[in-house]
Formats: sequence, C-alpha cells, structure tokens
Amino acid sequence: MADRLILGLETSCDDTCAAVVTRAGDVRSNVISSQGIHDAYGGVVPEIASRHHLELVNAAVDDALRRAGATLDDIGLVAVTQGPGLVGALLVGVATAKAVAAARGLPLAAVDHLQGHVAANFLRSDPGAGGEAIMEPPFVCLLASGGHTLLARVDDHATFTVLGRTLDDAAGEAFDKGARLLGLPFPGGPALERLARDGDPAAFAFPVARGLAGLDFSFAGVKTALLYRVRELGEARARERAADLAASYQHAIVQALAERCEQALTDSGAGRLAIGGGVAANGPLRERLATLSGVTLGIPPSELCTDNAAMIASAARFADAQAFPDYLSLDAYASGERALA
Ligand code: KG4
Ligand code: ZN
Repeated sequence: MADRLILGLETSCDDTCAAVVTRAGDVRSNVISSQGIHDAYGGVVPEIASRHHLELVNAAVDDALRRAGATLDDIGLVAVTQGPGLVGALLVGVATAKAVAAARGLPLAAVDHLQGHVAANFLRSDPGAGGEAIMEPPFVCLLASGGHTLLARVDDHATFTVLGRTLDDAAGEAFDKGARLLGLPFPGGPALERLARDGDPAAFAFPVARGLAGLDFSFAGVKTALLYRVRELGEARARERAADLAASYQHAIVQALAERCEQALTDSGAGRLAIGGGVAANGPLRERLATLSGVTLGIPPSELCTDNAAMIASAARFADAQAFPDYLSLDAYASGERALA
C-alpha cells in the first residue's frame, strides 16, 4: 500500500495538469494540457478556464495513468491543488480528486500551490542516476510566477518562512505586461525571452527597484518605464527596437530577482538556492543565478517550474492526507499562502 503511486491534479489557472509520481519522488508522467484559448483576450478568462478544465480533466488523468503505465489500481493517494488560484478552476480539480478518491477508497491530500512549486525541488532530477532530489532542505527558494513573487527560507519539506515578497506586480506579470506593450502574445514570458535573444540588454536603462526594505520586490516601476519608453520612441521606432527593448527589460527583471536572491543567501548564511514558478524557466535568469559564487543551485527542468501536477504530488509526500469522508467538505481558496509562515 505504502509504495503505491500518487496521482496529482493541478487546475489553479489555465493549464489542466495530471501526473503520476512515486513515493520516492520519481516522475512517472507529467501531463500538461495548455488551453491556448486565452491569447485572444491577452490574459486568462476565469470562466473560460473553468469550462475547459471540465472538458480536459478526465482525459488528462487517463493520459497521465497511461503514460505512467499504471491504472487506478496502482494509485495509493490522490493529491490536488486547493489554492491559491482561480476558484472556479480550482474547484474542477478538487471535485475530480474527491470523486476519484471516493470511488477508489483512497486518501486525499490538499496541497497549497506555492508549496507545490517549492516541492518541485524535492522530485528526483534523474531517477536513473543515484535517486537524488533536485534539492533537499534547508535552502533559500525564489518563487516567481504569474501570480506570486517571493523569497522563502525552506527549513524542511513542509515548513517555509517568507523572507520577502513583491509589493505590487509579480515577476511573471511584469513579463506578461511588458510583452503586451511590445505586441507579443500571452503568456508573455517565453515570447519576450525569445524576442530578447536578438536584442542588447544594455541598449536601454530600466530602473531595478532599489531602496526597498529588506528582501521585498517591486515590478510596477519597470513596467511603467517600458510604457514611457515605447511612447517616446513612437510605434514604428519601438517596433524596430523591439528586441533591444525586450532584452533590456528582461535584464532589469532578472537583475532585481538575482540581487534579492544574493542578499537572502548572504543574510541567511545558506549556501543553497532553489527556484520555482514559471519565471524560473527563464534562460537568462538561470544563467545569472548560475554565476553566484559559492552557491549550490537547484533548478528543476522547465516543465517542473511552470504549473504542473508532478509538483503537487511531490508536496503530498510530505503533507497530511485526509480519509473518506473527511475530505468531502474540502473547499478551494483563492488567495493566501496557507503553507507559508
Ligand atoms: O507558475 P506559472 O506557470 O503559473 C502561475 O502560477 O502563475 O507561471 C506563469 C508565469 C507567466 O507570467 C509567464 O509569462 C511566466 O511564468 N513565464 C516566464 C517564462 N515562462 C513562463 N517568464 C519569463 N521567461 C520564461 N521563459
Ligand atoms: Zn504557479
């Protein structure tokens, strides 16, 4: 029983995700169905996201089981994101998880989305090579996604202390809004990174929020600076200089993130840094963090940094599970960080 597999579900935003993970942290399958229908609106439309989760979720579970070479008979625990996120979207995952668990007599673990991003680091990077987790606590963790940006000290697998957080926009939001100003499709992060490859990061000076107390972040200023720079240049010139604008803008965000990480590592005396959240997929951020001297870096592969269900199953390995019928009253929550002190 104890070595049976964990089925994870994640539907907090626009990706319908299901995964199968072993108790030891090996990813057997990691299915991510991106809805791809929100581009036309320049962002995720909650009601549309919920409807698509409903259409996709059963197929995502079937696919995750098939790819893992497993059936529901092999599952010993169901894990699901409870929040934070879009409530209607979360409820599709929560209801599906309850149904699977109740039908099969399985326990259910409700997981905090941010705890999931941290727990991506507890998965094994290469199951064949010694079975090591990407990163074991204690470490400092940067979580940078579309909805959150924070630095936390991860003391053990289930306990985190927030060291600093964004006071306004999240880093991913800054990427998305900047991309929109440059006429790029949603989600903006990957598109802006691609455009920036042909640009000069030193072409424009964008302010990196300095002088903030402690380890907090602020990304509203850099976004406004880009807006003004695009207006100054005018539409045609801004289009010509789009790659330089993207590279300089990305550089400013990466600098802000990397400087705070460095500070957190110095303050805490920790020599280990892990990253998570969609922005952790950013190449220049990874390269910049890799230059920090004397620091052991844990970076999950990109598909474990952006929203996925393997990270939720991973967190469930260290969370309390509920038995039937206790979990039937479980509700989704939109905001807050239950797992983070
Ligand atoms: O963690 P995630 O998949 O979903 C949330 O929980 O928000 O993060 C999505 C965010 C989006 O803002 C997206 O633009 C950003 O992560 N992102 C990136 C990259 N890939 C995704 N930002 C910069 N560079 C990337 N390569
Ligand atoms: Zn996320």
